[in-house]
Amino acid sequence: MSRMGNATSEHINMAKEPDELLGVPIHVTRAFLPPRAEYDAWLDRVYESNVLTNNGPIHKELEVTLQQRFNVPFLRLMSNGTLALQLAMRALGVRGKVITTPFSYVATTSAILWEGCEPVFVDIDPHTCCIDPSLIERAITPEVTAIMATHVYGIPCDVEAIQEIAAKHGLKVIYDAAHAFDVEYKGRSILSWGDASTLSFHATKLFHTVEGGAVVLHSEEVDKQLRLLRSFGHVGDEHFCLGMNAKMSEVHAAMGMAVLPHVEELIDQRHAICGLYDRLLEGCVTRPGLPDGTLYNYAYYPILLRDLEQREAVMAALSDQGIFARRYFFPSLNTLPYVQQQRMGISEEVSERTICLPLFPGLHANDVQRIAQIVRSVR
Ligand SMILES: Cc1ncc(COP(=O)(O)O)c(C=O)c1O
Repeated sequence: MSRMGNATSEHINMAKEPDELLGVPIHVTRAFLPPRAEYDAWLDRVYESNVLTNNGPIHKELEVTLQQRFNVPFLRLMSNGTLALQLAMRALGVRGKVITTPFSYVATTSAILWEGCEPVFVDIDPHTCCIDPSLIERAITPEVTAIMATHVYGIPCDVEAIQEIAAKHGLKVIYDAAHAFDVEYKGRSILSWGDASTLSFHATKLFHTVEGGAVVLHSEEVDKQLRLLRSFGHVGDEHFCLGMNAKMSEVHAAMGMAVLPHVEELIDQRHAICGLYDRLLEGCVTRPGLPDGTLYNYAYYPILLRDLEQREAVMAALSDQGIFARRYFFPSLNTLPYVQQQRMGISEEVSERTICLPLFPGLHANDVQRIAQIVRSVR
């Protein structure tokens, strides 16, 4: 399934000059800022209410709007996607060892470590770059209490297989869905799977609140616990548990409300750019694949090069032209100096030869052509 039909060449920026002519460096992403007047209108409401934080009216509105958008029972805003992971673990009572993917951003592993748990890495499926469910069962020991898997680049994990394994072994499932805003799988939000899913609303994400995140939950009891954890563990003078300050402010929620009406258009633009890259790079690079039934959000444009040498040469050729692709995701998290090392052959190999090409609304078609031509020219 694709969003085809929405994305046309009109969605690729042809209006302004390409960045090459403007002499502007091209980074892997560029934050979207909504029109100033639209953000100002939301800020006016902050000034009117004089409520700046602590579950204010805009915060509440954004929470309900997103919860309804994804059609999920509970959605709580957080100050960032890393604390979203940590507090989701804590609210679900995850302890001991956690099965996780080595191919993700470092925050997935650091959340596990900050919660005093031990990551048990399971290698990835080379097709989707998500955790390989066929390898999970052999990693389960009595100390394992949860699976934390990432929908990397917004590509859905094999949620059905993971659910079956988790149910069989009584494990909690937390999906790091930092990249998966608006991704659907088999007709419903990918966030509807697992015991919890977490989102990042960092400025570079498809939808953002400058800094921010959210946790999606399916149980009222866990939701109550999460709200306590997010706000110091007390209600009034009554203290219930060791809490954290993980609240989102009104000013951040206001940015979210101002960005939200633009999300469809942003996805269409990203889709059009990805389509152009696809055409220009056909036969030259490998790309991770989407499971059947995915409605994708075009959050990233990862390419797998032949080997480490070609990857280095492509990045050097791009940076010579002021174009900065990123090694998303590197290093393979099992090789971090502060985790117990375990060999993860596929993840290590994929992380050595994968880069994400620049992808953001407003990226000019001429710049896309230039980037693709550089990639093609490196043999
Ligand atoms: C997969 C993944 N998980 C977690 C995070 C952390 O999110 P945040 O930057 O909002 O703390 C990120 C951030 O980029 C991410 O890519």
